[in-house]
Amino acid sequence: MMTKLLQLLTALLSFATLLAPPTLAQSPAKVSPDLVEAYVKGTWKTPAEGWQARIDQDDTQRACSLSRNQPAKAEFDKILAREKAAVVFPADGVVLGKWQDGEKVAQIGTGGQFTDSPTGPRGGNCYACHQMALTELSYGTLGPSLQEYGKIRKYSGDDAKAAYAKIYNAQSVLPCSNMPRFGHNKFLSEQQMKDVTAYLFDPESPVNKK
Ligand code: HEC
Repeated sequence: MMTKLLQLLTALLSFATLLAPPTLAQSPAKVSPDLVEAYVKGTWKTPAEGWQARIDQDDTQRACSLSRNQPAKAEFDKILAREKAAVVFPADGVVLGKWQDGEKVAQIGTGGQFTDSPTGPRGGNCYACHQMALTELSYGTLGPSLQEYGKIRKYSGDDAKAAYAKIYNAQSVLPCSNMPRFGHNKFLSEQQMKDVTAYLFDPESPVNKK
């Protein structure tokens, strides 16, 4: 009995050794960017209308991919300048909308996926990455906590404008950021971005209230 068990264990162990990827982490495979590009194009043979531009990498995404999100200083500065120049602020100069509507933008995680109706609700899914309202228990931690974001900044107008720019185009603040470019990619409307900025900056918003 004991020998049988031992035999089985040994067999299982050697099988596990076979399965384990031994040196993958140390030596990333060298794959030509052209091959990756061709592969991605091949998986999107008939993209939905308007999607082609989202499949093609822009200069910033390409620079980030090639440097594995660690661009050298000169490239970093180039991305920053290019993305800053691409931010479009609201024509009326007002970056704050209604925080109540902004709360929905922060909570809604649908829109733009294969399974979503094109006319269904579309949101920023901010909670997937950020802690926000002080009372909310469920949130992701890929991004920093935004609790009391406006309060900490004394509800400064300049800081609200900077937050709008961050939401519009995260790369205009931090090149190769993991945060989606909501305005740049025309994912959220101007009104939605104003509303979610108000969610961060209105003194009455649950983000700033205990
Ligand atoms: C996929 C994850 C992800 C999502 C979704 C996301 N963010 Fe972020 N966000 C990040 C990360 C990571 C950072 C920190 C790195 C950086 O600055 O880009 C960040 C930074 C920020 C900052 C700057 C924080 C600071 O230190 O001053 C603000 C403001 C912000 N996000 C707001 C939002 C809002 C509002 C939404 C929803 C409309 C949102 N984020 C959605 C990942 C995300």
